[in-house]
Amino acid sequence: MTDPARTEPAANGAGTIAVTGVTGALGGQVVRLLSDDFRVDLRLLARDPDRAPDIDTDIRACEYGDLDASVAALHGVESLLMVSASESADRRTEHRTFVRAAVEAGVRHIVYTSFAGAAADAAFTLGRDHHDTEQAIRDSGLDFTFLRDSFYLDVLPLFADAEGVIRGPAGDGRVAAVARADVADVAAAVLRDPDAHRGATYTLTGPEALSLADVAERAGAVLGRPLRFVDESVEEAYAWRREQYGAADWQLDAWVSTYTAIRDDTLAEVSPDVERLTGHPPRTLEDALTDG
Ligand SMILES: NC(=O)c1ccc[n+]([C@@H]2O[C@H](COP(=O)([O-])OP(=O)(O)OC[C@H]3O[C@@H](n4cnc5c(N)ncnc54)[C@H](OP(=O)(O)O)[C@@H]3O)[C@@H](O)[C@H]2O)c1
Repeated sequence: MTDPARTEPAANGAGTIAVTGVTGALGGQVVRLLSDDFRVDLRLLARDPDRAPDIDTDIRACEYGDLDASVAALHGVESLLMVSASESADRRTEHRTFVRAAVEAGVRHIVYTSFAGAAADAAFTLGRDHHDTEQAIRDSGLDFTFLRDSFYLDVLPLFADAEGVIRGPAGDGRVAAVARADVADVAAAVLRDPDAHRGATYTLTGPEALSLADVAERAGAVLGRPLRFVDESVEEAYAWRREQYGAADWQLDAWVSTYTAIRDDTLAEVSPDVERLTGHPPRTLEDALTDG
């Protein structure tokens, strides 16, 4: 349902803003931030609208791989936050379909949640998917802003198994992981004034680079559960994951390269972008685990 108060054009001329992934952690945080702003004319796009956040605004059904439904859901949208879909074998195709839908629907500006160091040969193999989507958006001719997120600080402790062991070939490498709440703050700031961020690529990191041993020790202290990191070889990493999960090769590559990308310090650089865009310092691991 549309709240009449929200149908007024945004004071900054941003027009209707659509957000995808609203049933998830990041998209949900972004819409909560934007819904506090009466100047924002907000549209929520969800695969299952019944699970969308309970916000009095326009909610439409939308699945990236469904071109017609996506075009219909995007009609009248000026700016779009496209939250990358959950990893899957078809994600590149689904993302390309959705970008095409945005063009057909007349969307002006896409803000896309990409990945730090997205490139055709990114060490983290899913960074290659993000590069593919960035290319599709560049080729579409739409205005864009890319938010290249590092790994999420709040997700790293979830790598631990039932015994509290984070196991993978990350060695002493470090990662400048970012709090998901900071990504949400940045996304909301960009969506409030997309023109100011046209053509920009931002790298979103936390305030420091941490080894997984650091993450285990510090996250364990916050969570009140002893965690530890155990290094392993690439061969060991593939072997037990293949045996335990029987996963496809692309999925195994994604899991194992999460660790090797850290091992090789490909995600260790700290970026000033979160502070520059939000006006506050990036959240620490402790912040991310306590204030979400
Ligand atoms: N940087 C990192 O460390 C990191 C970690 C995890 C994920 N990610 C990426 O960042 C994204 C957002 O993170 P998150 O924590 O908010 O993830 P999340 O909680 O799993 O939310 C993902 C959202 O995307 C929606 N979605 C998934 N596939 C879709 C599709 N094909 N078409 C339309 N919507 C789709 C989901 O809808 P449903 O509720 O219907 O499933 C959900 O709303 C993830 O989707 C993933 O691409 C990054």
